[in-house]
Amino acid sequence: MNYKEILEQIQTEIHTQVNTGKVATYIPELAKIDAEKFGMNLYCINSGHYQFGDYSERFSIQSISKVFGLTLAMCIVEDNELFKRVDVEPSGDPFNSLVQLEYENGIPRNPFINAGALVVSDILISALDKPKQEFLDFIREIADEPTIDINPSVFESEKKFSHRNAALLNLMKSFGNINNPIEEVLDFYIFQCAVEMSCKELSTAFMIYANQGKKLITEKEILPSNKIKRINAIMQTCGFYDEAGEFTFRVGLPGKSGVGGGITAVHPGQYTVTVWSPPLNPKGNSELGMYALERLTTLTGLSIF
Ligand code: DON
Repeated sequence: MNYKEILEQIQTEIHTQVNTGKVATYIPELAKIDAEKFGMNLYCINSGHYQFGDYSERFSIQSISKVFGLTLAMCIVEDNELFKRVDVEPSGDPFNSLVQLEYENGIPRNPFINAGALVVSDILISALDKPKQEFLDFIREIADEPTIDINPSVFESEKKFSHRNAALLNLMKSFGNINNPIEEVLDFYIFQCAVEMSCKELSTAFMIYANQGKKLITEKEILPSNKIKRINAIMQTCGFYDEAGEFTFRVGLPGKSGVGGGITAVHPGQYTVTVWSPPLNPKGNSELGMYALERLTTLTGLSIF
């Protein structure tokens, strides 16, 4: 497979695409990002790295962090404990929606909507001594990059506009599904969203999902393969909120998006791929990023379907 040529073709096509997406503004600090940025990094298990554009520039990973939070929780808490507090069904609703929570008794549909990630954050706070430090250490370990950190301005900016996430927490606490103080859970959740990574670093970190739970170079096991199977399944069905079906239809890979404009996707046994383009479509997923991934799986013929 000539991955180099395929990425060159995608790069050429990207320049001719009309981008109707809009950069997220509800976190004011994210609105400052240059809408023209575009990076792509493909990391193949057997045939190396391929990349172009702004692939080595760090950006706000936002909801992509929900995959790392869930993975860390599954490393330390039994699945039956975790999944009695958060379900594994697609929501078909926007990422920050409150409506289902009311009639589903405070149990979020899945760990990749905000409500579910807030429950996972609550679980991590209860289980860890230093949640923020241990969360960062976890990402640094799987990405093999000790300098990964949060952007403090993005963290402060989201803190000022987190009323909806506070509402989700209050509602869930009223149902008894949040154990720690609301301010503490909100603070830790926003911290996770404020982590910055590049396309290259995300592709490396996500290799554990493509390589049966093991880091690629050292083969160190982070999580057993039966648990990785579950995380990939949730990425496939719930990684793109009310666009999970469309992403599966067009791209055909498990993955996760964030409002910073990043998407990381996984082909178990083959590769990980990350794209970054800040303008988002109406469902909150990177418009050009989805296009690039659709072209990748089409041109390579390699999707999981
Ligand atoms: O909680 C929020 O609204 C953001 N910190 C993260 C949302 C997000 O990235 C949704 N993704 N597409």
